[in-house]
Amino acid sequence: MIEQSNLLDNKQMALFVAKGYLRFDEVIPDDINHAVMAEIDRGIKASPAGTPLSACYPDPSPIGKMLRLPLVAGLIQSLVGPDPLFDHQAVHVRQPNEDSAQPLHADSIIDTRTAFDIQLMYFPHDVPANMGGTLLLPGSQYRRVNESDIARYQNMLGQVQMVCKAGTLLVLHHGIWHCGRQNKTNEKRYMFKVRLNPVVRQLRLWNTDNLVSDVGASKPIFTKETNAIEDVQTILARSEPWFEDASGRLEIVNRVKMWRYISGDDRFDVHYWMTRLENTP
Ligand SMILES: [Fe+2]
Repeated sequence: MIEQSNLLDNKQMALFVAKGYLRFDEVIPDDINHAVMAEIDRGIKASPAGTPLSACYPDPSPIGKMLRLPLVAGLIQSLVGPDPLFDHQAVHVRQPNEDSAQPLHADSIIDTRTAFDIQLMYFPHDVPANMGGTLLLPGSQYRRVNESDIARYQNMLGQVQMVCKAGTLLVLHHGIWHCGRQNKTNEKRYMFKVRLNPVVRQLRLWNTDNLVSDVGASKPIFTKETNAIEDVQTILARSEPWFEDASGRLEIVNRVKMWRYISGDDRFDVHYWMTRLENTP
């Protein structure tokens, strides 16, 4: 049973819908980081695709310990629900002093579902800037492409390079554009990735306390945010630096569709963007 307090909150979900990822710095304890690094050397045993996650990585697996930490279990349940299916795992290795980066891509073939998988990326050791790190393009997750169709693009405005300390986690929408950057150090760089598929309809799986979002309310408000009162509409309307006018509009409509899908509020809108498109008298 996952405590409500370990689920993602409304603001985190809105940020995931807008940007396609969430980042959690230094949340995995060092003993697990060290144990995972040792396990990588021995080889991390994978289950067959489609195995319930609860049947994967039994104790004393360090990866299992990481996945069962309350914060990690909570974010998994918030995004893909209880006991998702294991899809695949990979230990991504970037060799020392390599001469090229991985081309920008989205994983798998083009995927037009509204339901989404998540990919957890776990960085068990420090990744300084000269080690490259994984690169992401925030907000690109709904721009559906066929794997490496975007490989020619270099250095998009607003890209995020994962420079981080050991024990950092990323959770990604499966469609986000990403790549592994060039490692210019003398050390190998490791990143562990696991993809998970939902087995339930992804409807209000997170901690929706204080989300005023009755069906038809156009402007849900967070009433008890610690930092600021910020509404979903504001977060979903925020542009990414790579948006130009037309693509920004398209992505905001895509975000509205996703928020409606996960909240069940079929009348939610950002300003008038979706409502206008639905006006067919
Ligand atoms: Fe990838």
